[in-house]
Amino acid sequence: MTSRDQLLTQAARLLRQRAEIDATDLFMDNLTRPEALRLAAAARSAAPASRADPPSATSASVSAAPEPTGPSAGGGALPLLPTSYTELRDAAMSCTRCRLAEGRTNVVFSDGSESARLMVVGEAPGANEDKTGLPFVGQAGKFLDLLLATVDLSREDSVYICNVLKCRPPGNRNPMPDEIESCSPYLEKQIELVQPEVLLAVGTFAAQLLTGRQKIALGKLRGEVHSYHGVPLVVTYHPAALLRNPKWTRAFWDDLQLLRGIMDSA
Ligand code: URA
Repeated sequence: MTSRDQLLTQAARLLRQRAEIDATDLFMDNLTRPEALRLAAAARSAAPASRADPPSATSASVSAAPEPTGPSAGGGALPLLPTSYTELRDAAMSCTRCRLAEGRTNVVFSDGSESARLMVVGEAPGANEDKTGLPFVGQAGKFLDLLLATVDLSREDSVYICNVLKCRPPGNRNPMPDEIESCSPYLEKQIELVQPEVLLAVGTFAAQLLTGRQKIALGKLRGEVHSYHGVPLVVTYHPAALLRNPKWTRAFWDDLQLLRGIMDSA
């Protein structure tokens, strides 16, 4: 093992320990994405003995929320929605359904495996994602990769990751309702075609859309298992919010255990 690998292994251990003791500061500066992924791999090989016992899906409280009518709960079904994954992706790549098409560099459709067990849904691309065409490649994305690695999940094999919006809102402002309405049919179809075993919504926009509970605060939605058309759905904080508010790390950790428990009992 090189000294760099040793450093990454130690950093992974530190991250795990800090999450376990509810520590409030986080390190993420100066890590490149490949480094973060290697760190994630190191965390995986070091983690199993110390991972908290995940609650099983059956022991978790399951939300009795009404089924959402779909991500497009606000309406806006695509009239000629392609039914194959490649065609859907191609359609999104040339989409002009909303104003965000004008300012984008790239459409950010997805990353990860199309046969993934877990689909993670975020909010919208930021500057790094717009530049690269890949979701969650900035600081928040690196952090998300690390956190997922602590429960043995990685976009290299078990995770498919995408956003509610496929194009970057200017200045990273919040998505507008009509943008969500225009774009969410793509997400709806992605979920249908990828058929994940479990969904993880990170952040308010994804959580409210997928639970169909538009007015409820994220803090009130998390901590239970929802259902998105029969697919178990866990909602949690956005990793960017965690970087700003490390005190939520413990709650995120608990939500990951809930998620892992569902997957382990499947
Ligand atoms: N935040 C998101 O919600 N999605 C991304 O792809 C990047 C940052």
